[in-house]
Parts: sequence; structure tokens; C-alpha cells
Amino acid sequence: MPSRFGRRAPTHLDGNTRDLRDESTYNCTVNNENSDTTHFGFEQVAREAKAGRVREVFDSVAANYDIMNDLMSGGMHRLWKAFMLARTGLRPGQQALDVAGGTGDITIGLARQVGSRGHVFHTDINEAMLQVGSDRLLDKGIGSNVTSRVANAEELPFENNSMHCVTIAFGLRNVTDKQQALNEMARVCKPGGRVLVLEFSRLVVKWLEPVYDTYSFKVLPALGKLVADDADSYRYLAESIRMHPDQETLRAMMEQAGLEDCRYHNLSGGIVALHSGNKY
Ligand SMILES: C[S@@+](CC[C@H](N)C(=O)[O-])C[C@H]1O[C@@H](n2cnc3c(N)ncnc32)[C@H](O)[C@@H]1O
Repeated sequence: MPSRFGRRAPTHLDGNTRDLRDESTYNCTVNNENSDTTHFGFEQVAREAKAGRVREVFDSVAANYDIMNDLMSGGMHRLWKAFMLARTGLRPGQQALDVAGGTGDITIGLARQVGSRGHVFHTDINEAMLQVGSDRLLDKGIGSNVTSRVANAEELPFENNSMHCVTIAFGLRNVTDKQQALNEMARVCKPGGRVLVLEFSRLVVKWLEPVYDTYSFKVLPALGKLVADDADSYRYLAESIRMHPDQETLRAMMEQAGLEDCRYHNLSGGIVALHSGNKY
């Protein structure tokens, strides 16, 4: 069946899909360094094509992103984000960077933590998402201590050692070279500062897997079709989650980026994990 993004017909939960899922960690780490191709959901694409494909997804979902987030997670994303914000270690007057900040949930929390004497950079590669986010910030009366700026996580336009805390929430799995993005986040973090990564991860409650698979591959695209007339973007969401490095792999990647005390907390049985690393 032809689809919105010109990709192959989905093969969810069939033999092909399982193979890809089983190889997900291998694909994420090895493709990034040694291969001309990478994954876009369950599809292999040329590395240089992935950012454009991801941009199409977020151009398409930007207008309905916040309502879909609440619907898809049953409001849980608010708790996961609150858990992340409680661990920034930020104090009034400090400076923070929200990478892949999108519609601004984390930026808003960071801006409140650093207060009027501090500053937050709200960044994203996608102008449509950034625009929805900066409009929301203005609506909430937050603006004077926030700068919104288009930026690729793989090439952050900030100086070394300039941020007390660097966050990325539900953004890393969309980045082509995840290790490079983590290296960049560690580079701009100040010694004494912290890098936090909130992302969908691997279930640790095994009996939930069939329910979670059905929800991801059947309910999510149907919800996307119903609310946003866009099943493909939400199918990509489910696939990209399965292709993201698992908890231990991501922890090792943060260490590889030079961060210390790298650890993670599983949330909602591992549906999501918060990873943290300190810079000394
Ligand atoms: C699922 S949204 C998350 C938005 C927000 N952080 C939140 O938690 O609601 C993922 C975001 O990652 C952004 N993104 C994807 N690839 C990126 C990249 N290479 N650099 C920066 N942002 C990127 C997308 O444009 C999108 O806004």
C-alpha cells in the first residue's frame, strides 16, 4: 500500500519485523559509525536521507503534537517529564539547554527552575515544532529568559562547558548519529553539570509485551489516523521506539561521550527510561 512518506507497506509483527527488532541494538550502534545506511523506523535508508524523513514526520505532527501526546500516553508523559525535571540539579541564575525541545514542555520547566536571572536555550532541528513551542512559551508568559533556536543535536551551536544542564526528551531516537549527539551534549555541559536523556526504552515487565506491541502497532496508528489523519507518522513513532538502543547500551554510549556516574531509572516498567550522566 503506498503511504504518505513513500515507504514500504508495513509488516508489523510478522517475521521481518521481529528480525529487525532483534537486531535493533546492533543497527543503532554499528550503523552510525560504519555504514552508509541507517534505520528510519524499521526501514533502512541512506544516512543522509534520515534527517529529511524525520523532518517530514514532525512537520506533519507539529500542529497536533501536544494533544496526541496526552492521548497516546494517557497523560503519563507529564509524569515522565516531571521526573526528569526533578533531577536537573538546576538552581536560579544558571544556564540550561533543551535539545530537540519541540513544543517546549521541558523548556518551560527549565525556565521556571533557572528563574529570571538564568537562561534556557530551547532548540530543535524542526522549525514547525520550534514555532509551536515558542508560541506556547509566550502564551505562558515565559520568554524573557528563553531563546528558541534551530539546532541539530549532532552539531550544537554552543561553546564548550557553557551549560549547567543539558536535556533531551523523546528526541534522541530520531537523531541519525546518536553517539555524536551525546558527545555534543557532553561537550557543551559545564564541569559539575548534568546531561539527562528521557526516551522510550525496553520493557522490563515481560508479560506486558504483547499488550504493548498491539497498542504500538495497531492502536497508535489508528489514533493518529483518527485525530491527525496521519497513521504513518505514528507508525514511525512505534517503530523508532523499537529501534532505539536499550537501557544498558544507551548508558554505555553516555560513558563513551565522557560522562560519569551514568545511570538510568526505568519508568512505567521500562516503557520509558531516564538516563543521567555527570560531567566532572
Ligand atoms: C517527539 S518530539 C519531542 C519534543 C519534546 N522534547 C517533548 O518531549 O515533547 C522529538 C523532537 O526531536 C526533534 N529532532 C529530531 N531530530 C533532531 C535532531 N537531529 N536535532 C534536533 N532535534 C531533532 C524533532 O524535530 C522533534 O521536535
